[in-house]
Amino acid sequence: MSAPFHLATALDAALKSAASAAGFDAATFSPEVRTTDPKHGDYQANGVLGYAKRAGQNPRALATALVAALPAEVTADFDTAVAGPGFINFTLKPAAIGRWLGAYGSGDALAAGAGAALAGRTWILDYSSPNTAKQMHVGHLRSAVIGEAIARLAAFAGAKVIRDNHIGDWGTQFGKIIWAYKQAQAADAGALEAALAAKPLEEFERLYKVGNTASENDPAALTAAREELVRLQAGDAENVAIWKRISAVSLEAFQNIYDQLGIRFDETLGESFYNDKVEQIYRELTETGLAEESQGALVVFHPEHPRFKTQPFIVRKSDGAANYASTDLATILYRVQHFGATDTLYVVDKRQGDHFEQLFITAKKWFEKTNRPLPRLEHVDFGTVLGENGRPLKTRDGENIKLKDLLEEAYERALKLVESRESDLTADEKREIARVVGVGSVQYADLSQNRSSDYLFSWDKMISLEGNTAAYLLYAVARIHSIFRKLDLAPDAFATGDAAPATPAEVALARKLVKFADAVFMAVGQLRPHYLCLYLYELAGEFSAFYAAEKVAVDDAADRERRLRLCARTLLVLETGLGLLGLRTLRRM
Ligand code: ARG
Repeated sequence: MSAPFHLATALDAALKSAASAAGFDAATFSPEVRTTDPKHGDYQANGVLGYAKRAGQNPRALATALVAALPAEVTADFDTAVAGPGFINFTLKPAAIGRWLGAYGSGDALAAGAGAALAGRTWILDYSSPNTAKQMHVGHLRSAVIGEAIARLAAFAGAKVIRDNHIGDWGTQFGKIIWAYKQAQAADAGALEAALAAKPLEEFERLYKVGNTASENDPAALTAAREELVRLQAGDAENVAIWKRISAVSLEAFQNIYDQLGIRFDETLGESFYNDKVEQIYRELTETGLAEESQGALVVFHPEHPRFKTQPFIVRKSDGAANYASTDLATILYRVQHFGATDTLYVVDKRQGDHFEQLFITAKKWFEKTNRPLPRLEHVDFGTVLGENGRPLKTRDGENIKLKDLLEEAYERALKLVESRESDLTADEKREIARVVGVGSVQYADLSQNRSSDYLFSWDKMISLEGNTAAYLLYAVARIHSIFRKLDLAPDAFATGDAAPATPAEVALARKLVKFADAVFMAVGQLRPHYLCLYLYELAGEFSAFYAAEKVAVDDAADRERRLRLCARTLLVLETGLGLLGLRTLRRM
C-alpha cells in the first residue's frame, strides 16, 4: 500500500474485496476494523465473528480463508494473525510505518490525507449562540469550546464548515429592557449614557433585571413592556435603535471572549434574522396538515411519540408571536436552501434535549411532506459544569460565573504556575505564556472529558503540569522545540524521509504517530473531541518513554536523523492536534 492516511479504512476496503475473493456473501460482511491494544498489533478486524455466526460457519476457518485472500499490498505492509475465536490482528511492519511517516511529514500533507473523508459535505455548526443583553457565563463555555473543536475537526476532515452563531436576540425580554431603558432615560439621561459608556453590557443586563422585576410586580409595567415589544416588532424607529444598540454592545463583548478562545464565526444569524421567515413555516405546516390550532396557538402533535403525544410542539404562541421553535424551523430551511447544508449540528446544553428532539421530528415530517431532502440534524449535547461541591458552578453568592472573569482567573493561575518554575524567561514572555496556558487549560479541561457527562470544574486539576492537561501537552511541545533549538536545527528540516523505525522505543512511538488518523476520525465521527485529547496525551507519554530510552543527538548519522525525524513528527502531530482542539501552542514554556 502507498501509505493511505487512514489505515483502518484501507484495511476495511481490502478485507471487503478479500471477502468476495474468498467466497463470502460480501453484501452482508462488514470487517469492523478498529485500533487495538498494541500488545495484539495495530488493528483488529472482528467482523468475521458475527458473519460466521449468521452463516453458521466456523469463524476461525473463515478468518483464515480471509487472510489467505488478502491482496499482496496488504500483506507487504502488515503481519497478520488469526487470534481467539476468529479475530484478525494486523501489525504494521516497520518499513510501512516509515513510509507512512514519510508521506505525512507536514501539516499540509496531514490535512490532505484527512481531507478526503468529508469532502463534498457542508456542515453548519450552531454553537456558542448566547442571548444578547446578557454576559456570557460559564454555561456558555462548553458550547463555544466544544463547537469550535468540532468545527476545526470537520474542516480538517474536508467538510465545508460554516460556523453560525445563532444568538438569542429576539423575544419578550426586549420589551422589558426597552421599557426600563426609557424609564432610566426619563429619570436621568446623562447618568444612563454614562453607565452605558462605562460598562454597556452590564448596564443592559441591569436594565433587563429592572424591567423584569417591574413586570412581575406591577401590571402596568407589564403592559407597558408588552407595548414596547409590539412597537419593536412593528419596526418603530426608536425601539429598533435601542434594540440595535443592545445587539451591537453584546456582540462586541462576545467577540472579546471569542478572541481569547480563538473563535471566528462565519455568520451571526440570530433569531431576529428569521423574523420574516416564519410565516412560510406556519403556512407550510398548516397546509401539510402537520400543525393545528390549539387554544389559540399553532402546534404540532406527535401522537406516535411516547412523550410528545401529550406535549405538543408549539410553533406559534397564542399571542401570535414567533418563538424558539418557529425560528429554529425557519433556520433549518434557510441553512439548507442558502448554504446547501448537508449536516447541521447544534452544540447546546443537554437540558434542551426535548426541544431538539421535537424540532427534528417536526422537520423530518415537514421535509417529507414538502419533498425536500432532509439534512442530518444532530443535537451535540453536553452536561452541566459543576463546582467542586458537585452542584452547578456558581460564585460564592450564587451568581453565574461570568466567562470574562473565569478566563481572567485562568490567566492569573497560569501565571503563578509559570512563575513557580526556574527559567530565564522575561516577565513579558511569562505573561504571554500564561495567556496561552490559562485559556488552553480551560478549553482542554472541557474537551478532554466526554461531553455528555456533567463536568467537574477544578482549577487545581486543570492548571497542572501533571495528568491529561493542556499544560502537560503544551510543555511536551515546548520541550521538543527546545531539543531542536539546542542543536540549532529546524524541525521542518525533517519533513521528508521514510526510514523505518529501528529500536523498540522508536517503533512504539512511531506506531502511535500513525494512529493520529484514527483519533481524528473517531473524534469527528462521534463528535467527541475527547478521543483526540486522550490520543495526544498518550502520544506525549509515548514520546517521554522514547526520549528516556534513546539518546537523540548521537554520533551515528542514520540513528540521529531517524530519531530527530521522530521528534519532528511528534511535534507536528501534537501541534496539529492541539490546533484542531482550538488551542494555541508555545515554543518555550
Ligand atoms: N440562545 C440559546 C440559549 O442560550 C441557544 C441557541 C442554540 N441554537 C439553536 N439553534 N437553538 O439557550
